[in-house]
Amino acid sequence: MIILGIETSCDETAAAVLTNDAKRITILSNVVASSAALQAKYGGVIPEQAAREQIKSIIPVIQEALSEAFPQLPTTNYQLHIPIDAIAVTSGPGLIGSLLVGVETAKVLATVWNKPLVPINHLIGHFYANWIGGKIPTFPCIGLLVSGGHTDLVLFKNHGKYEYLGGTRDDAAGECFDKCARLLNLPYPGGPEISKLASQGDTLSFNLPRPMIDSKDFDFSFSGLKTAVANLIHTFEVKKSSYTSKVKCDLAAGIEQAIVDVLVAKTLKATQKYKVKQIIVAGGVAANRKLKDDLRFISNDLRIDAKLHIPPPELCTDNAAMVTSAAFFNYHPTDPLTLQANPNLSL
Ligand code: KG4
Ligand code: ZN
Repeated sequence: MIILGIETSCDETAAAVLTNDAKRITILSNVVASSAALQAKYGGVIPEQAAREQIKSIIPVIQEALSEAFPQLPTTNYQLHIPIDAIAVTSGPGLIGSLLVGVETAKVLATVWNKPLVPINHLIGHFYANWIGGKIPTFPCIGLLVSGGHTDLVLFKNHGKYEYLGGTRDDAAGECFDKCARLLNLPYPGGPEISKLASQGDTLSFNLPRPMIDSKDFDFSFSGLKTAVANLIHTFEVKKSSYTSKVKCDLAAGIEQAIVDVLVAKTLKATQKYKVKQIIVAGGVAANRKLKDDLRFISNDLRIDAKLHIPPPELCTDNAAMVTSAAFFNYHPTDPLTLQANPNLSL
């Protein structure tokens, strides 16, 4: 089976073509156009602007994904030759203006090409980046989703069968990275920027809070950490202490370690409680080196002995390959005339 997937939930316009056989899912093409550089000018995503960029990029991105996957395909009269079996699209959650561009485009293409249309939840899509390629997870597994808008722990019992264990009560992990980066005058998106500085800093220089690390549930809270960082920077300013680049690196290292410590502790707790031997991590923050290293170290502990699955960095941040992969395992076509984008879709 060959599926074309479309993802436009935020500031990335993405299209991918994937195929499956008995053994594995393979990427034929995976194209992402990001308006992050434009958004960076304003320190974050402006929904209206992101939607306008989606409109500009959607057709060229789909065309590029198709011609990369099928180089022999004629560039005109696609409808006569299109060798795909279905179209998958992110139907939510996300920014409504951005979502609408992908959903309406997918509806039109599904109708014109007479192909089944498979709506995919963006959050579930993130997890399915782990099912691309050879070494796929087995059930049951604990899923940790860490993105710009979500921090969730999920117990997966099978495809389409999962239990929500907990999530953030305020800021998401990625949001915390982004907001702390802004406090440090670093550009958007902040996660990779903090990570870069952190590699030259000392994690022990600042004793930052690890909110809810010992709470009995699987919930998270990151807004207190951001406030602690804001207070620290304010104190530096008031006391006119030297806010050197070394201090900035140490602060970045402290922020990264605090976020990672909480994520690792809660994932570990869920793994132990539900006695699972597989952990899947997904979302933009899963591209973080420190998180990867610490989760790997903990999951290798003999008492846990769990297999860890983290997608390559380009499949952690928003892309259409993950959405397409999810469609192979959650194949529930819908009526292209009635599908609606849902910005508030939950897990
Ligand atoms: O999954 P994603 O691309 O978009 C959403 O669905 O939200 O995640 C974006 C988030 C941003 O907050 C960004 O700062 C964070 O992922 N991020 C990282 C890294 N790369 C992206 N955070 C920490 N370390 C990274 N290397
Ligand atoms: Zn995402």
